[in-house]
Formats: sequence, C-alpha cells, structure tokens
Amino acid sequence: MQINIDADRIVADLEKLATFSDTESPVITRVVYSESDNKARAWLKEQCEASGLTVRKDPLGNLFACWQGTDTAAGAVGTGSHIDAIPHSGRFDGTVGVLGALESIRALQRSGFKPRRSIELLAFISEEPTRFGIGCLGSRMLCGSLTPEKAAALKDREDQPLTNFTGTLAEVKLPANYYSSFVELHIEQGPILEKENIPLGIVTSIAAPAALRILIEGEGGHAGAVLMPARRDAFLGAAEIALAVEAAAKATGVIDSVGTCGLVEVFPGLANSIPSKVKLELDIRDSDLARRDSMLQAIWKACDEIRARRKLKITSSTINADAPCTCGSEVVAALESSCQKEGIVYKKMVSRAYHDSLFMSRIAPTAMLFIPCKNGFSHRPEEYAAPQDLANGALVLARTLATLSTGLYSGS
Ligand code: GLV
Ligand code: MN
Ligand code: MN
Repeated sequence: MQINIDADRIVADLEKLATFSDTESPVITRVVYSESDNKARAWLKEQCEASGLTVRKDPLGNLFACWQGTDTAAGAVGTGSHIDAIPHSGRFDGTVGVLGALESIRALQRSGFKPRRSIELLAFISEEPTRFGIGCLGSRMLCGSLTPEKAAALKDREDQPLTNFTGTLAEVKLPANYYSSFVELHIEQGPILEKENIPLGIVTSIAAPAALRILIEGEGGHAGAVLMPARRDAFLGAAEIALAVEAAAKATGVIDSVGTCGLVEVFPGLANSIPSKVKLELDIRDSDLARRDSMLQAIWKACDEIRARRKLKITSSTINADAPCTCGSEVVAALESSCQKEGIVYKKMVSRAYHDSLFMSRIAPTAMLFIPCKNGFSHRPEEYAAPQDLANGALVLARTLATLSTGLYSGS
C-alpha cells in the first residue's frame, strides 16, 4: 500500500490552528475553555467532519473523530494528542499529534485503505495543567484515574469550578476495551533526535510525573519598620524550598531526576510589604518511580526543617503523583515495522515529558512516535518541527494505524 502524506497541508493546518491564540503567533497561549481554545476546538471539529469522520464530544470536552471500521464490535485504534497550549509557548506541542494524525487518516483514505477496527482521532482536553493545576485532565478521566468526585472539586485560580465548563462528569470514563490500542505522535521536546540526526523516535516508556502545591504562611508587615530579627518572611521560606527542590533532584546523582518550582504567588506582592503568604507549585519527575518518590520525601523533609527554623506555617498537598508507563510491546512492534517498511531510521527512547499516553496506557496497549524539534525547544515560542519531519511522523503513524486496524495486531 502506497501512502502519500501532504506535508504542506499539515503545515497549513498548524498555521491556522496557531491563529487561535491569546498571544500573537509564533507566541501561542491557548488555555483550556478560553475563547481561543473553544474556537480552536470548533475549527478542529469542522476539519474532522470535512474529512468524513464522525465527531462527538464528551461532557469534559474531549473530542473524538471516528473513521468507522467494518468490525464495529472490535475495540477501536486510537490516536491523538492535545491542542491546549501553555501561555507563551509554541505551535507544535500536542497539535502535531492531532493535525498530523488527521493527515495520516486522510492519507489512508486517499490510498483506498478500509479499516477493520475503527480508527479514532482524539483531541484530549487540557493536557496542560495551566488552568486547573493537574496535567492530562482529559485522559485521566477517560481512563478512570481521576474520579468524577475529585474532578468536581477542581477550581481554577479565579476559584471557578471545573464543573462550570462541563456536563456530567460521571459520563466521561470510557467503557472497558473501548480501545484496542493507542498511539500518539508528538514532537520530542528534547534535543536527542536532532543531535543524533535520527528522523524518528519510538517511545518505550514515559517518566513518572508528580506535582505538589505548597502554602507557606508567615507574618506580613512594613518593609522598613520591621527589623530583620523579628521577621517571619514567607517568601524566604519559599525560596529555600525552591532550592531544596533543586538539591533533591541533584542528590539522586541521576540525570533523569528533575525538579522545577515554576509557580510562585507572593501575597500581598508589593515591594514595600513583607510577604505574608506564598503559594508554590512544584513539578518533580523521574523515569524511576522509587527515585521520584525519594525526591518527594527529601522535599517534605526540607519543608519540615524550614518550617521549624523560620517559624512558618507550611502545608503541602499532592496534586498528582503518577507512576511511569511502559509502552505496549505490540504497538512498539507495529511502529518499528512501519519505520522499516518506509525505510526510515528510528531510535527507541524514553519520554521525559508526560503525555496523555501515560494514562491511555492504563486502558490499552499504547506507544508514542517522536519527531525531532529544533534545538529540542518546547514550551517556548521558538518550538519548531520541519515539514519533512512532520511528513515522516504522519507517514509512519498512518502505516501503524493501518496495521493495528487490520488485525495484524492480535489484541482484542
Ligand atoms: C507536558 O506538557 C509536560 O509538562 O510534560
Ligand atoms: Mn506541553
Ligand atoms: Mn504535549
């Protein structure tokens, strides 16, 4: 079967999607349920319908676009990613796995291929934690890892509950065996493929992410009048916690351990007022679960010591602490044989970023396909993937979807 990818179409679609943003392209800001995000999802729905796919949306906003197979009783082959984008980011993160996959499906349609298992494109809602603090919201709920009750308790920074934007959350979880396999195309978000001049990466595992929220409370006051020995400055406690995060990651001695203190809210937030309260959000990851958890322990221990020494109140809560995933060997094998058939060199690799695939792997054999991105840049406006790399990814994805759909794959 000859599959021809229209790379110009993927580039044009990515360009169009980039116009749905609260900042001007190439700087992308598309936060879940914002007007830009809603418009982008409406546009995507039109594109899927124009390609003959049957589109439905679940009560959370996950979008499913189905190419019906001949065996409607068999679990579908899923593919897709997300189109929300963190503030001041780029146009390729997640979007490549949606618009690239849409082109894979169109290319299969043009080739005359007829699916046996249905092939379904998924645009997950809120892969990014920007608004509700928790990443992979859509896939977490689809696979049942986040209960409707816990989801209903989520609020954004303006105290708006998630439920203001959704229908009945109890209806989001997918029935058992809904998907027979899942495969996600994504930019690598790291420099390895480009550095080694390898066009594709096949992901065999995804690192374990965790996120913590820490509230530090001290005593406010006048920045001139309160003398240093009398202070209980919440920000100084927070600053020490941020350094403890760095120390915890470095202390493992392993390059896979990473810790970030990316959100700091200082109250009241004025130069001449001693900070009385600080909220921190931390992101801690490792490919090894025990090592990731040892970092969490080290951070909590540091918080205890800082609390006592600085006479602060420190409370912490775990937003999420997820296990890593091992990708499905059948899907990895289908990706490998597709690369071989197309004569495209690949490398097996670990994903250090998290993805909706982390959660899809809990309900179906799942793997990912990476394409190189310039300088490994991601979560910044300079994010870039070349048309040839987009085309390679869509081509191998198309062949893999065909393989998984026609039952060369032996799952149920
Ligand atoms: C996904 O955006 C991640 O932070 O890994
Ligand atoms: Mn991202
Ligand atoms: Mn992503």
